[in-house]
Amino acid sequence: MATIEQDYADARPKSKALHARAVQRMPSGVAHDGRSFAPFPFYVARADGARKWDVDGHEYIDCWSGHGALMLGHNHPAVLKAIQEQARLGTHYSACSEIEVRWAELICSIVPGAERVRFMMTGTETTALAIRVARAFTGRQHLVKFEAHFHGLHDAVMAAVKDPFEIPVSAGVPPSTLATTLVARNNDLAHVTELLDDHEVAAVILEPAGARSMTVPTDPAFLKALRQLTRERGVILIFDEVVTGFRMAAGGAQEYYGVTADLTCLAKAVAGGLPGAALVGRADLLDAITLKGDAKRDRTQRVADQGTFSGTPLIAAAGVAALEILKTGQVQRELNRLGDRLRGAMNAVLKTRGVPGCVYGASSIFRIFLGAGAEELGIPTYRMDATRLDRGMGPVGGTLHLAMLLNGVDYSRGASHGWMNGAMSEKHVDLVVDAFDRSIVRLREEKQLA
Ligand SMILES: Cc1ncc(COP(=O)(O)O)c(C=O)c1O
Repeated sequence: MATIEQDYADARPKSKALHARAVQRMPSGVAHDGRSFAPFPFYVARADGARKWDVDGHEYIDCWSGHGALMLGHNHPAVLKAIQEQARLGTHYSACSEIEVRWAELICSIVPGAERVRFMMTGTETTALAIRVARAFTGRQHLVKFEAHFHGLHDAVMAAVKDPFEIPVSAGVPPSTLATTLVARNNDLAHVTELLDDHEVAAVILEPAGARSMTVPTDPAFLKALRQLTRERGVILIFDEVVTGFRMAAGGAQEYYGVTADLTCLAKAVAGGLPGAALVGRADLLDAITLKGDAKRDRTQRVADQGTFSGTPLIAAAGVAALEILKTGQVQRELNRLGDRLRGAMNAVLKTRGVPGCVYGASSIFRIFLGAGAEELGIPTYRMDATRLDRGMGPVGGTLHLAMLLNGVDYSRGASHGWMNGAMSEKHVDLVVDAFDRSIVRLREEKQLA
């Protein structure tokens, strides 16, 4: 009998040929590390709603949802219309436009603590600027980040992203930069307090719901205590809501947990699926970027920021169209309900099939872990081993992903995550659960499960 990997490869000759061309010109043949996998990635020809189709004619329910950016699914009619209308009016004016003002006003009306907005292109840029603003404002240098938390690709946040945490996730990062990045254990307030006692800390940054999209979930009580601690110490609290923003609730994790940060990093959903991002937060902090017309202050104390595509009208139009829908919270409430149902049903599959493992997460995000149950991993009590959760389930994770693709479901393979989107309904949940069941059976037949 053919293996899962053989079945995958044999049914995708056009993707195989495209990948053979791609590796000649692009490192690993991909544009994003997360899209590289063996034997070769599939190539998508089109997408619509909750689905996408590859060049070999296979259909997938898309639980990767534009890396989480497509909160409303592919080609939502309102977003598509806004993009088409704006494209006719021009995509980049090298000038200000009304639509960017509308976008900023909308964000401020939705996101807790958003008094000011600075637009940019990517989540990476927002976390870099947030840290620089915090340093300029406090006059301090150190940054506290947490084990396994991901904040994009700039040097300061390359520490402790993946196990082993003591090795930066990338080569080429100056040790002098990493010397100012202090790494805290998840959900450990005593450890954070110790770091704040011992260093001049400008900011604490974290993904509020947990490391790498809840791979290591955050204890809500810890989040509240961290807010209090940072406020008492005059340390800037930065929430990286690149994934959770507009997803967990209209006002993101801040609304969901009732905790407001000083600075919030938004990307993905904020721009309706186009490349746009925003750093938002307290007016006095964002004021560090304001040009005041005082030459000395503007040259020596101001935080500089500019990007060719920042706040450009095409991106703003998509952002406004999406946020006008997301602002009521209705899409999020329905997706959170579907997320609970999906995680519950996938866990029921594991139980019925007698496979140790769990599907955890919150809101419209799920993470699959085979090999240990939630109790054993310490998830319900937040007493977790970040290293174990970060390592995930090992090679079986890749085979499970291939099996799910064979059964018509894609998700983020790296940490076995899925992000649902607003084009999904009960029907899609049932299809994903069914695909999971068939994939688990196939893995067992192939003796891939312990
Ligand atoms: C929590 C978090 N922060 C920052 C980023 C970086 O965002 P971008 O890829 O837009 O630079 C990501 C990307 O996935 C993310 O998940």
